[in-house]
Amino acid sequence: MAAESMIKLTRGVPPAESFPADKLAVCAAEVLAQHGDIILQYGPSRGFPGLLALIAQETGVAESQVIIGQGSLQLQDLCARMFVEAGDVVYTEDPSYDRTLTVLRRAGARVVGIPLDDDGPNIEMLQNRLQAGERPVLFYIIPDFQNPSGTLLSLEKRQRIAALAQQYGFWVIEDVPYRKLRYAGVDLPTLFELAPDRVIQMSSFSKLISPGLRVGFAVGPEPVIGQLAKMAEDTYINPSYLNQAMVAEFAHRGWLDAQIEVLKQLYTPRLQAMLAALETYLSGRADWRTPQGGFFVGMTLRAEVSADDLLRRAREANLLLTDGRGFFTDGGGDCFVRLPFCALTPAEIDVAIARLAQVVDGLA
Ligand SMILES: Cc1ncc(COP(=O)(O)O)c(C=O)c1O
Repeated sequence: MAAESMIKLTRGVPPAESFPADKLAVCAAEVLAQHGDIILQYGPSRGFPGLLALIAQETGVAESQVIIGQGSLQLQDLCARMFVEAGDVVYTEDPSYDRTLTVLRRAGARVVGIPLDDDGPNIEMLQNRLQAGERPVLFYIIPDFQNPSGTLLSLEKRQRIAALAQQYGFWVIEDVPYRKLRYAGVDLPTLFELAPDRVIQMSSFSKLISPGLRVGFAVGPEPVIGQLAKMAEDTYINPSYLNQAMVAEFAHRGWLDAQIEVLKQLYTPRLQAMLAALETYLSGRADWRTPQGGFFVGMTLRAEVSADDLLRRAREANLLLTDGRGFFTDGGGDCFVRLPFCALTPAEIDVAIARLAQVVDGLA
């Protein structure tokens, strides 16, 4: 690639070459022919029946425990509006997904970040806050290949958090859009599997098929999902069924499992390229964790830098970075850089990290 072109290390979006457009065209034609009467009509707010059944079967729950929305963020927004009253405490990992932080704050939450260790949120701090009498209504957690840090929540911490949710009676929103994009290691139980009466699990086809389809879902206890469905109905009547029916058809044809394998083949070398480039150009000057899946490596520079300087200098060097401060709940994040490796080729990743290292040198 040309040395002077701008490289975007900003949003964690799938690359266009990963979109199965031809197969989706087949699915669209098929579902309109087969189910046009349902797809083109108003209907239940929970979503397209064929996809509800598929998600219920895969998760091992009743269909009444599933709701499908226009992306999982929309369901997070409904959850926030349902659970949070102005001033309520909500726990998140610190750092966490910036859009969710916005959604929670907009609902009036007092967001409290629990610092993230290598294996998930710091349990001692969590326990101390709870023992001191703080009562969160929600704990929002991304256990698998966290956005923005790439962290995996350990089995022990999953069990501890599940037990604390039960003991102190808070809800856990477990957000797992990257769970199926695992490049190494083996799956750990989900929080929903460990505490099904306290956890609402969210996931999405955005990272597995296409974000533009806007198909995300939540699974949880029947009364909670019922309330979400009522709120959804009062907000947008029903979601678009066409996209949901296309996803169901895609999965029924066996194309989803095949697509996930294709994505793993595409992203594994990109992660390896990112880790190799970090080792080559930033070893000793930054710390990062090695993710087993997902889209992101979270990196912290050892030198104290100002995010404004870092972003400006990076832009001058034709490198777009996301402002690390946006992921933190209570200040900080100047030295944090989220590095999405999914949408760049290995060669672009190498150039990007070489540029980043030069920028960091210039700031030191
Ligand atoms: C952790 C996390 N949750 C939710 C979303 C949004 O997903 P959706 O496209 O299903 O709304 C993203 C997108 O980047 C994400 O990283």
